[in-house]
Amino acid sequence: MKVNGTHYRSLWWDDAKGALQIIDQRWLPHDFRVQSVETLEDFAAAIVEMRVRGAPLIGATAAYGMALAMKLDPSDAHMNKVWEYLNATRPTAINLRWALNRCQAALLPLAEADRAAAALRLAHEIADEDVEINRNIGLNGLELIRDIAAKKPAGEPVRLLTHCNAGWIATVDWGTATSPMYHAHDEGIPLHIWVDETRPRNQGALTSWELGSHGIPHTYITDNAGGHLMQNGQVDMVITGTDRTTRRGDVCNKIGTYLKALAAKDNGVPFYVALPSPTIDWTVDDGVADIPIEERNARETTHIQGLAPDGQIGEVQVTPMGTPGGNPAFDVTPNRLVTGLITERGVCPATAEGLAGLFPEMAQAAE
Ligand code: MRU
Repeated sequence: MKVNGTHYRSLWWDDAKGALQIIDQRWLPHDFRVQSVETLEDFAAAIVEMRVRGAPLIGATAAYGMALAMKLDPSDAHMNKVWEYLNATRPTAINLRWALNRCQAALLPLAEADRAAAALRLAHEIADEDVEINRNIGLNGLELIRDIAAKKPAGEPVRLLTHCNAGWIATVDWGTATSPMYHAHDEGIPLHIWVDETRPRNQGALTSWELGSHGIPHTYITDNAGGHLMQNGQVDMVITGTDRTTRRGDVCNKIGTYLKALAAKDNGVPFYVALPSPTIDWTVDDGVADIPIEERNARETTHIQGLAPDGQIGEVQVTPMGTPGGNPAFDVTPNRLVTGLITERGVCPATAEGLAGLFPEMAQAAE
């Protein structure tokens, strides 16, 4: 998508530098900084420190990390070591393991001499596929938005609520939850997006930056406002992203998603999840029991980063000295609270049958 009129993907390969370029998201929305990722340590730090973040983008980044690993040492032993190293960077988003597994499966049968070039080609392929997947999620989600718009008086906006940032910078391009919004806006459907702030790291500010750059009307709200808005008939539909969805359709996403789904259920508001197929974990049924939830540094809760009046980006403490913080970064929304899953192949119920119906070859391969 565009930043100040220039089209960007959230990562790209620089042939001259022979290195991956990323947008360092720690400084957004206040500062747009591009960074070169040149060592395996850089790759791990980029994911751990959330310079890159969002399940699909983490997966694509890891694929480029594997490409670098194969350039440095294409042996099986090194491949396995780097698989472990990168897979340990963030535990919840399944795209990381998916991308590393895909690289390993493609590269292991090859002669060592061929692995570096093949790994880089594969990383490009994974990045390009992500763009196409998200574009199609957008087209499928657009149908749902069109249906809502058709029932409203002409000119009245479709009011969507989203949590976290499942936007283009959480993917390679388009985003997942935002892709239907971009498509609907570009088609001329009036929209208004309620953007949850998403404490502790305020990914809602990233979503606001994205939507603002694309001219989509939106309002940034506190995490606790969603239930009230739904109760008062101000939300037509919720669309969130997902970091891992189980084969029966339980959805693990940024902390707070579950509460939005409960409020949506209580108020009869449709709750949809934009789900790219690499985010399905076909090995897990029960998301609450079996998905590891990342516990992040408590400092993310006790402190907050923002733009100071002097124009500097800085951090302030919001709690008394010594107050302990707790920081589970994700939660699981059981499938019974999910109205439907918007995938690249269509919209399906959040059930084992629904997912297997759209992705039969993946469901069978996992049996
Ligand atoms: O901790 P983050 O910022 O990586 O969490 C991201 C989310 O929870 C997103 O909503 C999810 O990855 C979907 S991204 C298309």
